[in-house]
Amino acid sequence: MGKVYYVSKNVGLGMLVLAVAALATIIALSIAYDKERAKNRGKPGDEATDSTSMPPPPTTPFIPKEPWDHYRLPDSLVPLSYNVTLWPRLEPDARGMFVFTGHSAVVFRCVKETDLIIIHSNKLNLTTFYGHHAKLTGLGKATVPTIQKSWLVVKTEYLVLQLHSRLAVGSLYLLYTEFLGELADDLQGFYRSEYIEDGVKKVVATSQMQATYARKTFPCFDEPAMKAVFNVIIIHDRATVALSNGRDIGSFEKYINSFLSNILLYILILCETGQGDYALSVTGPILQFYEHYYNATYPLSKSDQIALPDFNAGAMENWGLITYRETALLYDPMLSSTGNKERVTTVISHELAHMWFGNLVTLQWWNDLWLNEGFASYVEYLGADYAEPTWNIKDQIILSDVHKVFAVDALASSHPLSRREEEVNNPAEISEMFNTISYSKVRSSDRISYLNTFAFNNTVYTDLWDHLQKVSMHIPHTVHNIMNHWTLQMGFPVVTIDTRTGILPYPISLQYFSPDINSQMRVSGEDWVLANTNVSGYFRVNYDLYNWDRLLSLLSTNHQALSIINRAQIIDDTFNLARAKIISTTLALRTTKYLSKERDYIPWDSALRNLDYYILMFDRTEVYGALQAYLKKQIQPLFEHFKTITANWTKVPTKHTDQYNQINAVGYACGMGVEGCRELIKSWYRQWMENPHHNPIHPNLKSTVYCSAIAFGGVEEWDFAWRMFKNATLASEASRLRAAMSCTKAPWLLNRYLEYTLDPTKIRKQDATSTIQYVARNIVGMPLAWNFVRARWGYIFQQYGKGSFSFSNLINGITKRFSSEFELQELKKFKEENLHVGFGSATLALEQAIEKTTANIKWVTENKAHVLKWFTEESK
Ligand SMILES: *[C@@H]1O[C@H](CO)[C@@H](O)[C@H](O)[C@H]1NC(C)=O
Ligand SMILES: *[C@@H]1O[C@H](CO)[C@@H](O)[C@H](O)[C@H]1NC(C)=O
Ligand SMILES: *[C@@H]1O[C@H](CO)[C@@H](O)[C@H](O)[C@H]1NC(C)=O
Ligand SMILES: *[C@@H]1O[C@H](CO)[C@@H](O)[C@H](O)[C@H]1NC(C)=O
Ligand SMILES: *[C@@H]1O[C@H](CO)[C@@H](O)[C@H](O)[C@H]1NC(C)=O
Ligand SMILES: *[C@@H]1O[C@H](CO)[C@@H](O)[C@H](O)[C@H]1NC(C)=O
Ligand SMILES: *[C@@H]1O[C@H](CO)[C@@H](O)[C@H](O)[C@H]1NC(C)=O
Repeated sequence: MGKVYYVSKNVGLGMLVLAVAALATIIALSIAYDKERAKNRGKPGDEATDSTSMPPPPTTPFIPKEPWDHYRLPDSLVPLSYNVTLWPRLEPDARGMFVFTGHSAVVFRCVKETDLIIIHSNKLNLTTFYGHHAKLTGLGKATVPTIQKSWLVVKTEYLVLQLHSRLAVGSLYLLYTEFLGELADDLQGFYRSEYIEDGVKKVVATSQMQATYARKTFPCFDEPAMKAVFNVIIIHDRATVALSNGRDIGSFEKYINSFLSNILLYILILCETGQGDYALSVTGPILQFYEHYYNATYPLSKSDQIALPDFNAGAMENWGLITYRETALLYDPMLSSTGNKERVTTVISHELAHMWFGNLVTLQWWNDLWLNEGFASYVEYLGADYAEPTWNIKDQIILSDVHKVFAVDALASSHPLSRREEEVNNPAEISEMFNTISYSKVRSSDRISYLNTFAFNNTVYTDLWDHLQKVSMHIPHTVHNIMNHWTLQMGFPVVTIDTRTGILPYPISLQYFSPDINSQMRVSGEDWVLANTNVSGYFRVNYDLYNWDRLLSLLSTNHQALSIINRAQIIDDTFNLARAKIISTTLALRTTKYLSKERDYIPWDSALRNLDYYILMFDRTEVYGALQAYLKKQIQPLFEHFKTITANWTKVPTKHTDQYNQINAVGYACGMGVEGCRELIKSWYRQWMENPHHNPIHPNLKSTVYCSAIAFGGVEEWDFAWRMFKNATLASEASRLRAAMSCTKAPWLLNRYLEYTLDPTKIRKQDATSTIQYVARNIVGMPLAWNFVRARWGYIFQQYGKGSFSFSNLINGITKRFSSEFELQELKKFKEENLHVGFGSATLALEQAIEKTTANIKWVTENKAHVLKWFTEESK
């Protein structure tokens, strides 16, 4: 069965690794998109599926006339297989340009009569044959029409062939193209990455095909439902190695591997051997876990994972050949932090989850991306928990996912989980789908019959519900009804419990803690009710004020009566209910009062994440003094606690979450001015500067210490960090230094650093937008970053705007603090002045920024006085 989906490939007899050419993802390009079917299927709960009975709309929107003006392919042709040959040149040509050449033969079936062939092709120079961009032949008995004319459509990224007569339904044809493309350093399609080894510059040709970049590598039907078989040949130097999705022939040095029953596992890294050991050690267990969880064997015979020096996303789940940013795969036990290690585990777990869910079964179209990403974002914790059972990683789901999604969801422009197919068309809209919502909102499972039914096939989200229904006969409402509520609507449900009347809005299964509760949830005296135990449901809980008071008093007297997760939930729910004006802001703030006694990470982190909004809104106002004094008072005992349990900062806490909590304790203690903190940090950094070959700072604390030391220091500290950054051999070390350099309070250093982001010899292109964002996070850097981005929008947009996932984060990052009328006007002006340039994948982010700023202005106006009063009183 697997054989047809196998990617076979000829490689040269290369023995020495100098460079790796990876062609990947193309398996995920997929079969027929059937427009009629999609239209008729409609969405459940959608009353008006029969569009023919609707009156015509009063004003006619722009409807593209010609088939090639539509971003979606017509439904007349279905590819079956491709033979693709690619030849990347790892040396520049006479013009100084890196290029690749290649040819491709695609076999397709005609399923609807047509005299047009429309196939994606972007930025490729195509060879002409008798004046046309391709050669067409018929297979079997098919007689082949001659080509009348051919042309390229830049906007929709197509090659179009107009034929003299029609293709016959059911017949097979072969379309042959020859092409030349630039092997650019643009992180898209077939692209170039460079790194230095032993002082020598090495070039890697690699690929990023998701979402719409396969068409930049070779002409193809570049949509997720157009699954096909790919035979790939890569022409390369003997002294280099080529990798693809399928199993390889030939062998090469400098890799590490192991076997998991019959699956060959590889981790490939370009330099610094040893950093892949940890990744390899968790890959086997995680794959085993998923085989069991999905009740389906790993669909391929090999699993390669490779770390690349230039990579835009965190990782890409190419079937059988997963590509990673170095920080997401490499781990050095001496130099990496616990956080780095956890990231490696969860990212690997996420990508391996996609080998089944996403690759074996693929979404029909990008509107259902949430199904793919959300599911993987959920099961990644299960896989990681299996590999590292002592970490209690499942508890963190509440922090990393639930809280994050709740927060984004609360905005009106947040999109419902499932968008209609028609709403997601062009590459920028597709790229926008890769945002928080898609990654985090899925909390459901069941999978087995679903995976088996749709293996090697495509799916829409309603298919999953049908399969869930089969295994959930006991659920009274149909799964469709429940899930539609949840996927097609925005926001989060709030359950309100009134303990005076005992009234519950609907019968959900609630758990409660109370010594003596009657079945009606009515309590009295000191008794209290807590709903949503361990946050097992996707909803927030509000109570009557009496119960809130009793819960708060419980927290201050005996907080351990509640589970860690529920302590975090109380904090997070109140802050969000306050944002929604369901309860008062001061009630939310009161949930942080017990924190001086709290020693656990999850409640603290939940509080700090929520208080970050207060810090952002008020750190330029008179409120900040009181806020800082209050937080200093609350965090001080935690700082002292860690000083004690680490024996005066000489030991590492043993518990995984304590290690994270220590980072928060030190970071906030220094930020709020707790005595002894700054001195501690300065002395560590100074010791390092005096002896650069011996860094005394524990990897867990490096990010915090570097940032604080650079914030309290001057140009000497900064320049030292820059030298260490340029010299770093471990990606995660480079990455924390890069973040830390944005912490300086010196405007000239910040401006110089911003300029560095546009020089790829100083800051890699993959890191440019995140570096600007780091600068914007700094209170001094924020206006500088905003001016910088406005002044160079045209250039930045051209470099990063056409579908880079990180691009929308740039706008989010810069506008986080915006909370005045003046800033809102500036933002609107920025939008108007750059309409001609465009905002690409940041379009939605810009709308959200305008919306958030408006909401912030309102919030600050309504809350500033109470908040100032509360912090002033509580910090006494
Ligand atoms: C594609 O490649 C395979 C394997 O090399 C070969 O058997 C097949 O004939 C080729 N098909 C076309 C259409 O060239
Ligand atoms: C493709 O053709 C155009 C126009 O002739 C040329 O400017 C461009 O450099 C070519 N691309 C490559 C990669 O050579
Ligand atoms: C797992 O798959 C096997 C074979 O497909 C099947 O017999 C078995 O019932 C499945 N197990 C579960 C728990 O569904
Ligand atoms: C894919 O699924 C569709 C129904 O959703 C079915 O008609 C088709 O036969 C399936 N294809 C394969 C290869 O299983
Ligand atoms: C809640 O979670 C904690 C820690 O994971 C666990 O010990 C406890 O038993 C859970 N409580 C319930 C009621 O599930
Ligand atoms: C803790 O360490 C610092 C610096 O290393 C030292 O000055 C201080 O005396 C130590 N305190 C205790 C209580 O050991
Ligand atoms: C810089 O890197 C080189 C090569 O890795 C190493 O030999 C040298 O010791 C490093 N310098 C410092 C100051 O760490």
